[in-house]
Amino acid sequence: MADPVARADLMAYLRDWSDRPQDIPEAEPTARKTEHDLDPAILAIQGDPAYGEYLSSECTTCHQRDGSDQGIPSITQWPAEDFVVAMHAYKRKLRPHPVMQMMAGRLNNEEIAALAAYFAGLRN
Ligand code: HEC
Repeated sequence: MADPVARADLMAYLRDWSDRPQDIPEAEPTARKTEHDLDPAILAIQGDPAYGEYLSSECTTCHQRDGSDQGIPSITQWPAEDFVVAMHAYKRKLRPHPVMQMMAGRLNNEEIAALAAYFAGLRN
């Protein structure tokens, strides 16, 4: 597709409808900055992966540590920023899923950053 705008729109459309949008990577030339209005101070928090590992046991009753998707999306190896944005979207009820709203609602900013750092570094 020669037209870059049409190309980017098609990728965005496919990502919206995919149950594994992380498999349609945001790569040049179609990459777009993730749209969100999260406070940059929250995104700047350096998560502690060891603390994230400690917190992760309540996540891995559902999400697989090996990154496999068994009806529940894979959350390993995400760019930490995308992970933090997703968790805060549940926390602020911008994403509708009630279980994840409850999980994220119990976590503070440091805990979310720690989980993002831990899951980003998990290799299968
Ligand atoms: C009871 C099962 C369950 C538990 C426990 C759970 N999750 Fe989830 N999680 C889900 C489901 C189901 C979804 C898909 C929700 C949706 O459609 O928005 C999800 C979605 C997510 C997403 C977004 C995935 C995507 O592809 O957009 C992230 C990030 C996430 N969970 C992180 C966590 C973290 C971190 C924890 C632990 C603090 C956790 N989850 C605990 C079931 C769970």
